[in-house]
Amino acid sequence: MAAAGAWVLVLSLWGAAVGNRNITARIGKPLVLNCRGAPKKPPQQLEWKLNTGRTEAWKVLSPQGSSWDSVARVLPNGSLLLPAVGIQDEGTFRCRATSRNGKETRSAYQVQVYQIPGKPEIVDPASELMAGVPNKVGTCVSEGGYPAGTLNWHSDGKPLIPDGKGVSVQEETRRHPETGLFTLQSELMVTPAWGGALHPTFSCSFSPGLPRRRALHTAPIQLRVWEPVPPEVQVMVQPEGGKVVPGGTVTLTCETPTQSSLQIHWIKDGIPLHLPPSPVLLLHEVQREDQGTYSCVATHPSHGPQESPAVRVVIEAEEGPIAGSVEGQELGTVALVLGILGGLGIAVLLIGAIMWRRQRRRREKRKASENQEEEEERAELNQPEEPEAAESRAAGP
Ligand SMILES: *[C@@H]1O[C@H](CO)[C@@H](O)[C@H](O)[C@H]1NC(C)=O
Ligand SMILES: *[C@@H]1O[C@H](CO)[C@@H](O)[C@H](O)[C@H]1NC(C)=O
Repeated sequence: MAAAGAWVLVLSLWGAAVGNRNITARIGKPLVLNCRGAPKKPPQQLEWKLNTGRTEAWKVLSPQGSSWDSVARVLPNGSLLLPAVGIQDEGTFRCRATSRNGKETRSAYQVQVYQIPGKPEIVDPASELMAGVPNKVGTCVSEGGYPAGTLNWHSDGKPLIPDGKGVSVQEETRRHPETGLFTLQSELMVTPAWGGALHPTFSCSFSPGLPRRRALHTAPIQLRVWEPVPPEVQVMVQPEGGKVVPGGTVTLTCETPTQSSLQIHWIKDGIPLHLPPSPVLLLHEVQREDQGTYSCVATHPSHGPQESPAVRVVIEAEEGPIAGSVEGQELGTVALVLGILGGLGIAVLLIGAIMWRRQRRRREKRKASENQEEEEERAELNQPEEPEAAESRAAGP
C-alpha cells in the first residue's frame, strides 16, 4: 500500500515536471510545439487539443484534419505550428501520440506570449527642482508592451521607493483597444531635501511581466536643485519686549524656516557667545551685564550663515519704570557717551592749553635769558642801561 502511494507520488511529480512546460512566445512570431513520442512521418496516430483565448472549450486538431484558418496547423512531423502567435493564443496545448508499437505519450504546454515595448522615455522632464517642495520630475512612458510589466524610477543609480512624502508616483495603465498591448505611464514627484544632491540624475526602467526578460532603461536626465534662500531668521523674546527685572529670566528663541540641519549660534552686542549651538538661549537670574542686543546666526550647510536682526534685552530697575522706554534708554546711553566724550574733549583741551602755556613760558624764558645775555654784553660795552628792565625780569615767575 505504501509502495503504491510512493509510485503514485513519483508518477505525479514526473507528470507535473514533464507534462506541463511553460513556453513564452513573442507576439507576431511563429511558434512550433513538438508532439513528443509521435512518429516523424505519417501515418501517425496523434491528436492536439488546445484551450486558448480563441477556443470556446477544447479545440481538437489532427494531422488528417484541415488547418484551423491561419491560426494553427499540424505539421507532417506531428508538431503544431502557429504561424503568428497573438494574445489570444495564450493557453494550454496538449498532444497525445501513439507510437508504431502502441506506446502512448502525452505532452502539455502552457503558452504565454509577450511583446517587448519600445524603449521607455521620460516625457516633459523638469529642468530644475526646488528644494523643500514637491516637484514633478517627469513622466516615464512605456508603449506597446505585453504583459503590462512595471515602471520603476531610479535616482543616482538607486531605486526610488514611493513613500508618499519625499517620493511619490502616479501610475496609469492603458490598453490599446485593438492590439491589446499596454501603455504604462508613471509620473514622478520628488521633494529634494535641503542640503541634498544639487545635480541628481533620474532614470526610469521597464521591468517585463515575465521572468528572465531584461529590463529596459531610459537615458538618465540630470536636473539642478535650487535651494531658495530661506525666509529671514528671527529672534523671539520672552517676556515680550525683552524687559526684565534683575534676577528674572529671559528666553530667546531663534526662529528659522527649517529647523533641521541648522546650527544656531548666538551673538551679544556683536560678539559671538561661546555656547554650544542651540535654537534657545536662556538667561537665568539676569543681571545688569546681561543687558544688550542679542541676535542668532543660523548656519545652513549650503547657504552659509544667516544672522537675525538684533533684539534688545533691558534690565529694568526693580521699583518703578525708572529705566523708561527702550528709546529713553538709548537716548540716555547716547547722552552718557556724549557726556564722556565731551568731558574727555574738555580735558584734552585743558591739558593742551596748559601745555601750550607752559611751552610758551619756557620759550619766553629762553628768549628772556638770551636777551639778558645780549644786554649783559651790551652792558659790558656801554653801561649803564635802563635799570627797570632788570627789575621787571626779577618780578617774573
Ligand atoms: C509555469 O508557470 C507557472 C506560473 O505561470 C508556475 O507556477 C509553474 O511553476 C511554471 N512551471 C514550470 C515547469 O516552470
Ligand atoms: C517538425 O518540423 C518543424 C518545422 O519543420 C521543426 O521546427 C520541428 O523542430 C520539427 N519537430 C521535430 C520533433 O522534429
